[in-house]
Amino acid sequence: MKSRTIEFQPVGQKGQCREDESLLDCARRLGIGISSVCGGWGACYTCRVKVITGALSEPTPGELEALSAQELGEGWRLACQAKPAGDCQIIIPAESMSTSQRIYVEGLEVSVPPEPAIKAYHLQLTAPSLSDQQADADRLLKTLNEQYQLHCRKIDISVLRSLSPQIRDWNWECQTSVRDGEVIALSPWPSRQLGLAVDLGTTTMAGYLVDLSSGQTLATEGVMNPQISYGEDIISRINRVTKSPREGIRLQKCVVDKLNELTASLCSKADVSVDSIVEAVVVGNTAMHHLLLGLPVKQLALTPFTAATGLALDVKACELGINMTPGAYVHFPPIMTGFVGSDHAAMLLATNMHQAEGLTVFLDIGTNTEISLVNGDEITTTSCASGPAFEGGHIKHGMRAAIGAIERLRMTRDDINYQTIDESPPVGICGSGALDAMAQLHLAGIIDNSGRFLSDHPRIRTTNNQVEFLLVNREEREGQSDIVVTQKDVRELQLAKAAIRTGINLLLEANGFTEEQLGQIVIAGSFGSYIDVSSAVGVGLLPPLPLNCFRQVGNAAGTGAKLALVSLSKRKEARDIVARTHYVELASNPDFKKMFLVTGHVGKYWLRHNERKMIENG
Ligand code: FES
Repeated sequence: MKSRTIEFQPVGQKGQCREDESLLDCARRLGIGISSVCGGWGACYTCRVKVITGALSEPTPGELEALSAQELGEGWRLACQAKPAGDCQIIIPAESMSTSQRIYVEGLEVSVPPEPAIKAYHLQLTAPSLSDQQADADRLLKTLNEQYQLHCRKIDISVLRSLSPQIRDWNWECQTSVRDGEVIALSPWPSRQLGLAVDLGTTTMAGYLVDLSSGQTLATEGVMNPQISYGEDIISRINRVTKSPREGIRLQKCVVDKLNELTASLCSKADVSVDSIVEAVVVGNTAMHHLLLGLPVKQLALTPFTAATGLALDVKACELGINMTPGAYVHFPPIMTGFVGSDHAAMLLATNMHQAEGLTVFLDIGTNTEISLVNGDEITTTSCASGPAFEGGHIKHGMRAAIGAIERLRMTRDDINYQTIDESPPVGICGSGALDAMAQLHLAGIIDNSGRFLSDHPRIRTTNNQVEFLLVNREEREGQSDIVVTQKDVRELQLAKAAIRTGINLLLEANGFTEEQLGQIVIAGSFGSYIDVSSAVGVGLLPPLPLNCFRQVGNAAGTGAKLALVSLSKRKEARDIVARTHYVELASNPDFKKMFLVTGHVGKYWLRHNERKMIENG
């Protein structure tokens, strides 16, 4: 099979692409991040690229559906469908890049008394002599146990390998790091003991470097999860791994490599060595958890969607290939179910749900949305497939929350004002912008209660038999294509918001409550932190509570991971939360379809202007 040279811009990378290989697969091989929400099945349209020079294969039926004749004429294609027919130069527009998303790492600042799993002990050993020939490791354990009344019996093999030369270099004085009766590290006295907390998301990873003795966060950083080039949703990745076990190894390795990069960067920011990290805690959804641990994932996608294990796990970092002090452990808090991972438990931990006033809903909105209803000591949890619309997927000009994304929008019938990320020229619409657009189009009377576009507005037009609203015209974009909201986009957003609202309502119903009895709604995660709550209430995504009943808590899962890192009591609390949680499967609820139709049909769930005012005024 012939190979062609492809040059990807603006990254400026060149590579060979076989004529039977898609541009997306070629980009993946070269490590270039092109957005691919559906994993390359031609269903999400997030992998749009533009050919500048050279020839590509004929457009597939999927491309003919996704792109207008004008767009195809201008060179727009789907990278997962198009294959080279000659040497090509390809532009990846900002909205199709998967590497530049704004990543939310900040969460609640919660402090707890430090009580880490690792304890540091200062030792001054007696040097051996001809009359005292006790082995070095035995000498260390004996002194440690006698001096501090411990019962340590184990020393990590990596510590044993370096103990004899090190202890002599340090003149028989050292610091031992002990975890659950095992010496896991040896260092000069005194040394800092650091920990790493990670929130491993489907799209992003947030890392926190923490001083274990004070609980203070020394450095934070967010990076993209490199697995997104293998499919942006969990199911696409599970399908890949199910088809080939080698893909599982590849997915695990790429996330471990990225974790190591993240750790090195955090340590460099704090000016410390990676070897100072003596413990890590990783939280994530069940699929991310299983993929990192190399656990089987096929059953996660098949009814009844069971996890391989729900137990809290402690795994040696070196077994996973994660760079820390070689004897260190990575703690994985327990996961809740196949669809609700340890990240949701961490969120509940961080938001101090015990102190929630009244009946409270905790929400983490993503392609899979986790919802918990907390009433005193009772926790009921569910999850719903809300789809990628709020992450920009399945939306014609949707994109991730990256530079140039329209993130806020206000409009009247005659005027449109929008705000983009970094105040850059608009390139597409991210989730919060799409939510605002839906709310504002309705408030301006441009779409009706059922979500249908009304045809009496000058910006409404029909392109390729698709009704659309012109949001930004090509003159404003210096000749680049218009940005529109299509009728299909509104339908996608309706489906997403209906899934979430159905989840909330059925969870309330299953516990014998109504939404009028709700006292508070706590919203975590990137999307939840940036949305305009009044738009979310306005479109019926969230119940109509006064605005002061909503709390947007940022990356609470990251905060929960930090708490579990610093405090054994908090680690135990996370286990208790999971043990006490009752999971409700929505799909088996006989009312699911009925409720979905009601919440999806916007009529009942749109608010009229006066109701909206009431909410805004509390
Ligand atoms: S349409 Fe190409 S990756 Fe989804």
